[in-house]
Amino acid sequence: MQLKIENLTRNFNGQKALDNLSISLTNVTSLVLIGPSGSGKTTLLRVLAGLETPDAGTIRINQRPLLFDEASLHSHRKRIGVVFQGYNLFPHLSAEENIVLPLTKVHGLTREEAMARAHTLLSRFALTGHKDKKPAQLSGGQQQRIALCRTAALKPEVMLLDEPTSALDPEFTTEVLDLVHGLQKEGIELIMVTHEMGFAASAADHVIFMDQGRILANGRPEEIFKNNPNTRINAFISKVLKY
Ligand SMILES: Nc1ncnc2c1ncn2[C@@H]1O[C@H](COP(=O)(O)OP(=O)(O)O)[C@@H](O)[C@H]1O
Ligand SMILES: [Mg+2]
Repeated sequence: MQLKIENLTRNFNGQKALDNLSISLTNVTSLVLIGPSGSGKTTLLRVLAGLETPDAGTIRINQRPLLFDEASLHSHRKRIGVVFQGYNLFPHLSAEENIVLPLTKVHGLTREEAMARAHTLLSRFALTGHKDKKPAQLSGGQQQRIALCRTAALKPEVMLLDEPTSALDPEFTTEVLDLVHGLQKEGIELIMVTHEMGFAASAADHVIFMDQGRILANGRPEEIFKNNPNTRINAFISKVLKY
């Protein structure tokens, strides 16, 4: 993907969640955002998803300007897939119906087409045995994997993931990250916020470190994680990796 952000600002009650943030990236397939709590990572993802309107600044994704009038947002949201920390599934629907419903209702696929797409993904990620279960009958890890499949089924131009493992019991983290890795291998491009530094280091092709609504550093994972001269970034990384 190409991502060009210029002077992006978003205030909440006079506090700058995004503070004149700019970046220009080309040929990135897996962009990972890291940084301390409150640094603006979620706000940036929500703006990119078209769920939050900036106060100032411009964004281009793959050359196309992101505009914030209702009509533009409507078509933008159809092109972008979003998965947040938890509670992503409709509780009253089976796993399979969770994947099928947005495909038929929002994207206009026939039920047969939607079913075929759902089954391909369920089978690819060894979830077929769970297709008839409701979210409450699934573990947190299974629920989040279904949520990722549901979003991937929409074939989004870019998938935005906000700490998809942070609400999970630790034993489920790996299976969810494995699925994200599988999606990458299928060619899905993503922007992901995570505190899983091992995953960021191994799966990202570009890392952005955010602090106080700004980008403190960005580069290839090895530039960010190995012998970073920035003391603030080093302090954060050692803290996250301490135990
Ligand atoms: N809807 C909101 N209303 C008020 N303040 C918000 C809202 N969303 C985010 N903020 C504030 O913006 C800052 C950045 O938050 P956020 O983007 O959630 O950071 P991160 O995801 O890096 O933890 C924080 O100070 C947060 O309190
Ligand atoms: Mg956040």
